[in-house]
Amino acid sequence: MSKDDKRSAPPYTLLADGYDVVMAHVNYVMWADYILDVLKQHHPTADEILELGCGTGSLALVLQSAGRFSYTASDFSEEMLAVARRKARQERLPIAFEQIDFRDVPSHRQFDVILLLYDGINYVVDSLEVARVLASAHDALNPGGVFIFDQSTPANSLNHSDGFDDTGRDGDFRYLRTSRYDAETRLHTTLFRLDINGKTHTERHVQRAYSLEEMTWLIHASPFESEASYDGFSFDPATEQSERIHHVLRRPLRG
Ligand SMILES: C[S@@+](CC[C@H](N)C(=O)[O-])C[C@H]1O[C@@H](n2cnc3c(N)ncnc32)[C@H](O)[C@@H]1O
Repeated sequence: MSKDDKRSAPPYTLLADGYDVVMAHVNYVMWADYILDVLKQHHPTADEILELGCGTGSLALVLQSAGRFSYTASDFSEEMLAVARRKARQERLPIAFEQIDFRDVPSHRQFDVILLLYDGINYVVDSLEVARVLASAHDALNPGGVFIFDQSTPANSLNHSDGFDDTGRDGDFRYLRTSRYDAETRLHTTLFRLDINGKTHTERHVQRAYSLEEMTWLIHASPFESEASYDGFSFDPATEQSERIHHVLRRPLRG
C-alpha cells in the first residue's frame, strides 16, 4: 500500500470543501436556464422539487433564486451537504436539505419534479441499480410528475480522454485530477490527489458511461413513460454521438 493509499477517503468526503474549486469552470446559470426551459416544456406548473445528488448545491441555489419552488436538495454525502447548507444560509435561500441515497428515495412525500444532474447516475455502475434509482424516483413523484436526469456518455469519455487531467488550487486546498476510461468496461475512473492543509489524501471515483441504447432499454423497463431524451442542453433528440443526454420521464397519471 502506498503512502497515498493509507489516506484514501470515500468519494465526496474530503473533496467536499474544494469541490467548487474543481467545478469553477461550470456555468450553473446556463444549466439552470436549461432546466427551467425543460420545466416550461414538460411541467410548467411544477412547485415541489426534489434534487438528488445535489453536491454543494450550486444548481439548487441558482434555480431557487427564481424563488418559485418549494425546493428540497439531497445528497448522500454529509460533507457535500454541509457546504451546500452553508451556501444557502449565506444567500438566505429557502432550500431544505436532506441526506438521501438516490438508489433508495423515500416515498412518504411526493414531488412534482425530481432532478438528478451532472453525472449522478453515472456513479451507479451496476445497471440493476440504475433500475432501482428509476423505480424509487418514480415512487417519490406525484402522478403526472417528471424525473429529469442527465448522463455522461461513452462519446464524452472517448472524445475528451486526453483532456481529463487537471490541477487547481485555492488557498490551502490543491488538487490533481487524473482520469482513465476503459472503453471495454465503459468504466471511467478518476483519482483525485488532494493536498489539504499540507496533508495529501486521495479519493477514487468510479463512473460508468451508459450508451443511449442501454439507458433507453433501462427506461423502457422502468415504470416511467419516456417523454424525451435530449442531446445535452438542447431540444434535439439524443444520439449515440451525444456527449451528454438529458432524459425526461413522466410518472403516468394511473398505475
Ligand atoms: C458529479 S457530482 C454532481 C453534484 C451536483 N449535481 C453538481 O451539479 O455539481 C455527483 C454527486 O452525486 C452524489 N452521489 C453519488 N452517488 C450517490 C448516491 N447513491 N446517492 C446520493 N448521492 C450520490 C455525490 O455525493 C456527488 O455530490
